[in-house]
Amino acid sequence: MSIPRKGRFALLSAAAVSVVAAASIAVIGSAEAASTLGASAAQTGRYFGVATSAFKFSDTPYMTIVNREFNSLVAENDMKWDATEPQQGRFTFTNGDRLVSHAQAHGMTVRGHTLLWHAQQPSWAQGLSGAALRNAAINHVTQVATHFRGKIHSWDVVNEAFADGGSGARRDSNLQRTGNDWIEAAFRAARAADPGAKLCYNDYNTDGINAKSTGIYNMVRDFKARGVPIDCVGLQSHLGTTLDSTYQQNIQRFADLGVDVQITELDVQQGSNQANIFASVTRACLAVARCTGITVWGVRDSDSWRTGQNPLLFDAGGNKKAAYTAVLNALNAGGPTTPTSPTPSTSNPPVPAGCSARVTLNSWTGGYTATVRVTAGSSPVNGWSVGVTVPSGGAVTNAWNATNTSTSGPVTFRNVSYNGSVAAGGFTEFGFQGTGTGPTANPTCTAG
Ligand code: XIL
Repeated sequence: MSIPRKGRFALLSAAAVSVVAAASIAVIGSAEAASTLGASAAQTGRYFGVATSAFKFSDTPYMTIVNREFNSLVAENDMKWDATEPQQGRFTFTNGDRLVSHAQAHGMTVRGHTLLWHAQQPSWAQGLSGAALRNAAINHVTQVATHFRGKIHSWDVVNEAFADGGSGARRDSNLQRTGNDWIEAAFRAARAADPGAKLCYNDYNTDGINAKSTGIYNMVRDFKARGVPIDCVGLQSHLGTTLDSTYQQNIQRFADLGVDVQITELDVQQGSNQANIFASVTRACLAVARCTGITVWGVRDSDSWRTGQNPLLFDAGGNKKAAYTAVLNALNAGGPTTPTSPTPSTSNPPVPAGCSARVTLNSWTGGYTATVRVTAGSSPVNGWSVGVTVPSGGAVTNAWNATNTSTSGPVTFRNVSYNGSVAAGGFTEFGFQGTGTGPTANPTCTAG
């Protein structure tokens, strides 16, 4: 594998702007400063995650920090190709499943990392080429995304496919040699397998406006223009001792293409600037409404893959470093609430019964997936139902994290057993897939 070295708000409809603005003011105005990274990030609708491994789950001091601080997990290695398909067609999900179970039991979301990458391939795949490799790769995407269907917030569908340096071109790899369309084939397969997961392209040395990030930018723009299903860009952000002055601008330009941005593998080389760089990265994400979450690549310095660089937020003894405090303060300073609404979107104000719902659509010709955020008002909600009007000619084909009895016209979605309780001011999300065009009218939300 390669060793990485290291405002404006998203455009919303006028209605959505007023609702989002009102919500942000309410949240920021009334919130106490939160005392953990996850709780603080959640105040603006974001997550704060960490890379972990099932083999560390028995380390009690480690897990104390994981459970206290973070509300999102990603597998540092357990969901990679070599880990999940060690022999062709024989899948092992034990460690990935443990990670997902732990996250679910603790109310955390899960990032999936990663479906296809030139590194950490099983040896059988390294020996394939051409159509045999392409077929094996797409099968891998389908099988893994299907296994974890409904449990993954965002998938890194493809990791590190661009070359370093000034070319802005694709990296040479066995996957690239199967044809330039391998990336879009992977995204289409992932969408079909798990329509509820956000699908990300993830890479490193993209921590500012440079030739590599511009190559990726051009690919994302092309995908959006041609309807290739992509929802997010991951900036790994393995950083050295300086931060590119265009870091935030780079996040913003991806957001302006209509994709979310996530900081996916943040770690910063120890040095006099470490805390400042961590804080600047956090502030940059919070300044862009569509930067929806940050993940650090490990818990304690002693857990880091960057041996000797002490690039994380906790020291080997599990103590909070200056970098930790800098990040927490930056999170507590707030920023625009993340929208659930790339265009087209709908929103409605809270109803008296105590919840509101907003819909985000991912549409393609003839179909769409909808993500619906159910937000509780000033009181906790115990059970909810959301009413959506499906435009004529189309129908709901499946739903996740909610149940529906009808599929066309007015459709009511009810909570399932594990997501009916929503804390005051908190939210939960469900989704559905449909044919035709997605709903554009405001959804209703009823608590109880
Ligand atoms: C690293 C892990 O942290 C190590 O444990 C493993 O030995 C190699 O991979 N970019 C990525 C991650 O996308 O998957 C890498 O993780 C770090 C660089």
